[in-house]
Amino acid sequence: MLIYERNSLVDEIVDLTVEYGKERSALLPILQTLQLRHKCISDFAQQEVARQLSIHPVEVYSVISFYTFLHPESQGRNIVRLCQTISCDLAGKCYLVKAIERELGIKFGQTTKDKRIKLEFTNCLGMCDQGPAMVINERVFTKVTPERAVAILNEVK
Ligand code: FES
Repeated sequence: MLIYERNSLVDEIVDLTVEYGKERSALLPILQTLQLRHKCISDFAQQEVARQLSIHPVEVYSVISFYTFLHPESQGRNIVRLCQTISCDLAGKCYLVKAIERELGIKFGQTTKDKRIKLEFTNCLGMCDQGPAMVINERVFTKVTPERAVAILNEVK
């Protein structure tokens, strides 16, 4: 079973190199696609991407660790990303942090026990004039108050 899964992952990565090419510039779109499909980029996938693009696996891992939306391990089903950059910070991000952590009983960087929600900080989301800004999966929320954050989380839960 594991061998079958690995072979299909190899085939998938080969298909992605056909779509995006084998240049270094293909690395990010390939990783984004794998993340979207599998919710993480396993060690095996990282090795295979490196092999297909003829680059060192460390290069693949460094790209994954640089971008907050790429993960080497499976994350919570819903990823809550709160902007930690200056405008959102000044707009009251810290009050959201307290309210969200209190509501879920976990800290940012952690995942709920039921794996439903993972909390992460992220850098500027491009909504600086409408902060504090937060993204849950692909959906953006702006001018989020602590009360609204709790209401949104309860919908997600
Ligand atoms: S500073 Fe938060 S969206 Fe730009």
